[in-house]
Amino acid sequence: MEEMIKTTPAVFAVGDEYQIFVPVNISCLMWVKVGGETYYDDSNGILRSATDIHKVTVPMEALDEAGKYTLCLRPVAERKPYFSETGEVVEKEFPFYPVKGEKITAYEIADAHNTVGLVLDAYYKFRDEYGKADFLILNGDVPAHCDKGSDFDVVFKLIEGVTGGSIPVVFARGNHDTRGTTAEIFENYTPTYNGKTYFTTKLGNLWMIILDCGEDKADSNDEYGNTNCFSAFRKRETKFVEKVASEKEFEKGDITYKAVICHAPFTRKNNPPFDIEEETYKYWAKLLREEIKPDVMICGHTHKLSVDEVGGEKDAFGQPCTVVVGSEINFKEGKYAGSGFIFENGKIKVVFNDKEKILNTYDIK
Ligand SMILES: [Fe+2]
Repeated sequence: MEEMIKTTPAVFAVGDEYQIFVPVNISCLMWVKVGGETYYDDSNGILRSATDIHKVTVPMEALDEAGKYTLCLRPVAERKPYFSETGEVVEKEFPFYPVKGEKITAYEIADAHNTVGLVLDAYYKFRDEYGKADFLILNGDVPAHCDKGSDFDVVFKLIEGVTGGSIPVVFARGNHDTRGTTAEIFENYTPTYNGKTYFTTKLGNLWMIILDCGEDKADSNDEYGNTNCFSAFRKRETKFVEKVASEKEFEKGDITYKAVICHAPFTRKNNPPFDIEEETYKYWAKLLREEIKPDVMICGHTHKLSVDEVGGEKDAFGQPCTVVVGSEINFKEGKYAGSGFIFENGKIKVVFNDKEKILNTYDIK
């Protein structure tokens, strides 16, 4: 199995399901067995093989209950209209640890910009001090851009290093993820809900809304050469935020904490040419503040660690809660810092750290 798959599976939380992605080195068919049920990577009944990444969707409840899954792979020698030639099935079982209990530990990685070792070392330092994360937040700009299929590899190498395929991942798209010739197939490699990069999900008693600001400059900016329509994309996303605010799914069930996961800290005022969509972002902030009432907003993008309190100097558009920018990079100096979030006793502890030390901690009440 090891030589056939590029990395261990990535188990993404989306809505009430897990989307298990597995990048592969060979042409093969794939399915996953969970608690006596089989879930296939198929296209309307046809097992897929013309791909370098497989995707199998599993109900969250089923995998949480089973606590393990078996990845099954059948090599394809030649796919033909009749009598396709395929090999023997190879199987591997992975343990799976669902998020549960009163204490939840998450680790956020953002802005890795194609770097793996330095970034993983930051997580390992956090793990040494505070214990393993219950899930990973991969919060945008993980590849530097998307210009070839292998640009997606960094996403799966980081996930392998933190999760080994055994804990969930929450994924949000960053603005650099929208750039390059393969950006338009980003959704084939990363989780989406009905094809959309914004959605909600719930892990244990933590409910999350994942938002996507798209690019950070206007669609008309020369840098994009007429290839973007994010203004229309954000209008559709506004409808989604309105729907979440009115349907209030976060008031149902055993939810203790609510978090916003978004690459860009969109409640800040930016200088030109980044001063876009101010009315849109004010409206999103208002819906979050008045209806959704999150406990924390977890971001990246600025490459500078920061905890922005409500009403503070960075609060330009009416923050709904404390905004944390949890990544800092300086690759020239070989430095990367990430952040841990520990949800416990109704409070959230934020830990900033690099590969050598804990840099700072904050308590959000
Ligand atoms: Fe960014």
